[in-house]
Amino acid sequence: MADHSSISVDHFFDPSSKDFIHNPVPTLEKLSAEFPIARFESWQSWLVTGHQNIISCLLDTRLSTDFNLWEYAPAKKAPEDMDAFERLMNNNLFFLDRKNHLRLRKLALPAFSPRIMEQMKDRFKVLVKERFDEIGAPKSFNFAAEIAEIVPTQAIASLVGIPREKFPIFDSLAYGVVRGINPMLSPEERQEAIKGVPEGLDLLNELIDERRANPGDDFLSTLILAEDEGSKLSNLEMCALVGAVLGAGSDTAVDLHSYLIKNLLQHPAQHEALMADSNLVQGAISETLRYESSGKTGLARYAAEDIEIQGHQVKKGQMVQLITSTAGMDPLIYNDPEKFDIQRDHDKSISFGQGPHYCIGVTLVRSQTEVMLQELFKRFPHLTLGNEIVYDYQHHNARRMDVMMVNTNIN
Ligand code: HEM
Repeated sequence: MADHSSISVDHFFDPSSKDFIHNPVPTLEKLSAEFPIARFESWQSWLVTGHQNIISCLLDTRLSTDFNLWEYAPAKKAPEDMDAFERLMNNNLFFLDRKNHLRLRKLALPAFSPRIMEQMKDRFKVLVKERFDEIGAPKSFNFAAEIAEIVPTQAIASLVGIPREKFPIFDSLAYGVVRGINPMLSPEERQEAIKGVPEGLDLLNELIDERRANPGDDFLSTLILAEDEGSKLSNLEMCALVGAVLGAGSDTAVDLHSYLIKNLLQHPAQHEALMADSNLVQGAISETLRYESSGKTGLARYAAEDIEIQGHQVKKGQMVQLITSTAGMDPLIYNDPEKFDIQRDHDKSISFGQGPHYCIGVTLVRSQTEVMLQELFKRFPHLTLGNEIVYDYQHHNARRMDVMMVNTNIN
């Protein structure tokens, strides 16, 4: 076995430690300054850091998202032996081989067109208003639990066309998809996490069948009507796409909402600048993603053949984790990376990835976050950060805040 001790980072890199969760910046800076590539034995993986190195890997076709290529992947089950959750994952955009990924992505893209995204903005406005009406006018409230945890899944439910009264069923599906994927769960914990998946899939299948009979100009109808060289999406593929959207677009957006508001309230001059010029809102979103809302793990890739990265031999089947949060802290790209500055240039940002798997939901998440922010400050123009922040130290991927109290300062 190769001796990787000189580039092992296990002695200082611990993304599940409290120190890292509270403030990852020193660790990320050390990683990108000293370890363009490293071994992290705790994950049996390589780590790649720094803006340009990560882009090279994202564009390298020999590094695949297909989990089945991993040297330690469990033997793949035959489709007929898979449970509902496994079948969903087996058709997930993230984990498909290149040919199937390309086909599915081409068929899915029209459902994320500017026309549909524009329809969504009006629906988000209604949803977000209702959410704030439910919160009312308290002296303080838990922004993390009452807004950040709720708005992103509601936004996806509304994209998919789930009727309001069935949101709880969709919530359980979302919970199953997001939590069920955690590799650290015991079989019992996993069963518990995914117990809402079958009912959620029944609901989706009902909706798809309804739209097939009566197509409109909405998201599901666009998926149903999409066709590429005679090929169309099956019900299972549409359900798996909704699963992928939930997996990729609910948890990530939760942290964006919380950290955006936390940072604005911690940086009053930036907050004031935003209040004076609403055009800065998209810059504030990009800056939050750069500065702190990245997860703990980064993006996983598996070597489809032996390759060399930064002078090191990566063997076929090995895992390579791209630590995207180091890209945001790269001093070659960003001046004063430790400074939160909503007016900086984000042209080179890779917060939404790059290459074939580039995020399909960028417009959707930008629009829901903008709608939320405008409604929040319209209702509570004197909002300040409260005293209490409680992190979920057990979260498998995110630096998640369960509690982030805000004071409304209304009489
Ligand atoms: C702050 C929120 C978000 C962030 C930071 C984010 C980030 C990313 C990144 C980095 C990737 C590339 C992953 C890779 O290369 O392995 C990605 C892919 C993806 N994202 Fe997002 N995303 C967000 C929100 C959303 C939303 C709201 C949706 C859907 C409504 C969404 C749907 C997807 C899908 C389906 C993919 C996979 C695309 C593919 O494999 O072709 N994301 N996202």
